[in-house]
Amino acid sequence: MQVIHSIHEMQSLAIQMRTQGKLIGCVPTMGCLHEGHLRLVDIIKEKCDVVVLSIFVNPTQFGPNEDYERYPRAMESDLAMCEGRGVDIVFAPKAEEMYPANFSTYVNEELCSRGLCGDFRPGHFRGVATVVLMLFNIIRPDVAVFGQKDAQQVALIKKMVSDLFVPVTIQVAPIVREEDGLAKSSRNTYLSAPQRKVAPEIFAALQLARTTADGGEHRAKAVCDVVQAHLGKFPDFRPQYISIVDSTTMQPVEEITPGQTLLAVAVALGTTRLIDNIQL
Ligand code: PAF
Repeated sequence: MQVIHSIHEMQSLAIQMRTQGKLIGCVPTMGCLHEGHLRLVDIIKEKCDVVVLSIFVNPTQFGPNEDYERYPRAMESDLAMCEGRGVDIVFAPKAEEMYPANFSTYVNEELCSRGLCGDFRPGHFRGVATVVLMLFNIIRPDVAVFGQKDAQQVALIKKMVSDLFVPVTIQVAPIVREEDGLAKSSRNTYLSAPQRKVAPEIFAALQLARTTADGGEHRAKAVCDVVQAHLGKFPDFRPQYISIVDSTTMQPVEEITPGQTLLAVAVALGTTRLIDNIQL
């Protein structure tokens, strides 16, 4: 496994591999890897000749009062996990090289990034779209994979790729959960033991919503009320949004259309923000 820090070196190698006809697969991450990330590696390995996993805690997607400084960093164990799972190249650029002092170009997606996390994390999706396009331009992947847990991120990356004719296929991987249903996330490491115990109730609420919708209740508000009622039983939860949206545009809908709608929630628990979603 090769570990590359230099942007120029990564880009030159990518161009060389493409000339050799190799299919490049990319797994963009911010590190602190868990089984969810490793499943993304498995998916890409099946489709591509070379797996490039990027590790970069992207400063532009964190707001001024967010957790950029304390975001968990675990380079040594990340590299061991990558090696163990068969990653070919880890690309871990330095923030100073990605964003030199005179950096001034950003990508703004203006539909899918509206609402949901977009309302609570101003500037977040601008940072995500910008860094993802930068990574695509450096790694030159044929295929890139993203986890469905960040459903809004997936929607806006697909939209950016389509709007800007970026020559990459976007693959989406299902949410990986802990045994008790909590969606795997690097931020779960922030949870105290009592918070960790209550956190799976978020998924329990989503499952109640699914049962309600499967039972024939297709009014979005009625289904969201079921989620609200369940979360309300746990005083530590501070729900930020409970919303049913079109899964392509991420804009709210009034009626559930099976297969086309997504129930998305964000809940603050102490100082940690947890997100989750299910397709309805
Ligand atoms: O999902 C993430 O880990 C990040 O948002 C991404 C896509 C790697 C961009 O920094």
